[in-house]
Amino acid sequence: MAILKIARMGHPILSQISTVITDITDYKLNSLIDDMVETMNDAGGAGLAAPQIHMPIRLVIYRIKLDKGLICDNDDNIIDNDNMALHILINPIITPIGDDISYDWEGCLSIPDLTGLVARYENINLTAIMPNGDNININVSGFHARVLQHECDHLDGILYPQRMDDLSLLMFNDQMRHGIPDKAKLLLQTN
Ligand code: NI
Repeated sequence: MAILKIARMGHPILSQISTVITDITDYKLNSLIDDMVETMNDAGGAGLAAPQIHMPIRLVIYRIKLDKGLICDNDDNIIDNDNMALHILINPIITPIGDDISYDWEGCLSIPDLTGLVARYENINLTAIMPNGDNININVSGFHARVLQHECDHLDGILYPQRMDDLSLLMFNDQMRHGIPDKAKLLLQTN
């Protein structure tokens, strides 16, 4: 296991379209996943996409609370003491369901110290391959849908500020103590 260097905004690898993984039995994939989990944990992040560790392939990992919706109950979804479930998805494809959107704050390990208010689809369909080879096809909503849209955007070379419709709501984390702008409060209320 190893902690990998995380690419930061401006590195060209973060703007690339990542390639589809054709051989999920490649032993190197398992060690890459292990390294990504260790890197995400070390950095204190909730999600990580392979291009962020300089590997432009369609692989994402993230950790969410169980009550936000577990994809499927198998050994790949390691559940820890905080009731957080680790999700590992190969070649994820997401499709919005309906037009409902909601706003919430997002951060990214490739954009340290910043937070931005981002609109995302409320409901999406997800297809992906799990590391054990199982195919999944499920609908997810809310926070889980948001995390997936953020991580899958990385696979298409898109960072969350590119999804923002008001860049005045891109803020340094330590400045949030001065209060959230009124227009952000309004957008959060519409959720
Ligand atoms: Ni990110």
